[in-house]
Amino acid sequence: MEKKKVLLCVSGGIAVFKAAALTSKLVQNGYDVKVMMTSSAQQFVTPLTFQALSRDRVYTNTFEEKDPAKIAHIDVADWADLVVIAPATANIIGKLANGIADDMITTTLLATRAPVMVAPAMNVNMYAHPAVLRNMQTLEGYGYTFVEPNEGYLACGYEGKGRMTEPEDLIEMIDYHFTKLAYKNWNGKKVLVTAGATREKVDPVRFFTNRSTGKMGYAIANEAAKRGAEVILISGQTSLTPPHGVRVINVQSAEEMYEAVMRAFPDQDIVIKSAAVADYKPKMTFEQKMKKQEGPWKIEMERTKDILKELGEKRTKQILIGFAAESENIEKYARKKLESKKVDMIAANSISSPGSGFEGDTNEVILFKRTGDSVTIPMSTKTEVAKILLDEALTFQKGSIE
Ligand code: CTP
Repeated sequence: MEKKKVLLCVSGGIAVFKAAALTSKLVQNGYDVKVMMTSSAQQFVTPLTFQALSRDRVYTNTFEEKDPAKIAHIDVADWADLVVIAPATANIIGKLANGIADDMITTTLLATRAPVMVAPAMNVNMYAHPAVLRNMQTLEGYGYTFVEPNEGYLACGYEGKGRMTEPEDLIEMIDYHFTKLAYKNWNGKKVLVTAGATREKVDPVRFFTNRSTGKMGYAIANEAAKRGAEVILISGQTSLTPPHGVRVINVQSAEEMYEAVMRAFPDQDIVIKSAAVADYKPKMTFEQKMKKQEGPWKIEMERTKDILKELGEKRTKQILIGFAAESENIEKYARKKLESKKVDMIAANSISSPGSGFEGDTNEVILFKRTGDSVTIPMSTKTEVAKILLDEALTFQKGSIE
């Protein structure tokens, strides 16, 4: 695929160092990056840093025309698929809102027809000043997207709103921007994902659980949200950060997951059940901690409700996708689940192959479809697996209705 072209415009504030980290991450994520700097930005970090990170010349001066065949600011304005201003000072926001073009960045911004994303960074009082607020509103009216600054300690010594968004979050926004454009058919689709392990309580300190980390489900929720879907993520225990733009509902037990899934289910278009739900729970639970006693402790277990199976019975239009973690006879067991749970697709992984299954960042998966065919995804990152799984999910126009 052709690389997406990002023009990063850096104006002068202490957060310029974050723009350097952003440049590096953009290049690592496969973007073609060009950097433009104001003269004040160059007071903080030299163009050489950005040149090395972007592996391209840095634009600093409107009148420095290196190629006589081109007019640099028009050429770069036309080149960009997206313009990101980070950090954006009160000054550059003010100039852009008033159509001023007195340096390379402001001139290029007037000439570009690419979408513009702005990450402001300034003192808390400046950010709250009516002039700045009005200028931001004006730019929003022109279609600019603002990425709100974070609250916290500011370099000027103040506490409050004004810290530029972290490069990791900006990258998420940039990825989101491009993925959404590329996957228009996901726009507004309602997707429910479950992830992580359930915890079945014995007493206030003990529970039964399993080795699922939730990474696969979180990767799916993240990718679906990036594509423009409306995503609900019902999550068991994990230590993962909720993906951007996803509504997360945290649950503990299989019973809580059942309740949450059933409530959300009727509205959904696609349901992906990657959670490792306990099949058994203790028949009795104790409100007080059980003290140890002589001899063994026998805990009687009973079956939990099979959520996916019930969804298979209840569904009207929903596409249903389940997971199966198998240690042997993968195809046989996966196809059995496909039948018994009446789902459209089972994503099966072999938990005995190295690099696949719980805890790691990679997975080796075979997607078994109700149509009889299957798709093998060789060892890949969980993000890659999520992408292919979502592509395959849309090959079903509608869930199977028996
Ligand atoms: N699942 C569920 N509710 C349960 C148990 C599992 O919705 N109480 C879902 C999981 O989220 C997953 C699929 O069903 O999508 C896994 O199927 P399951 O038959 O539970 O797998 P195993 O527990 O591995 O079953 P078995 O012991 O029969 O191999």
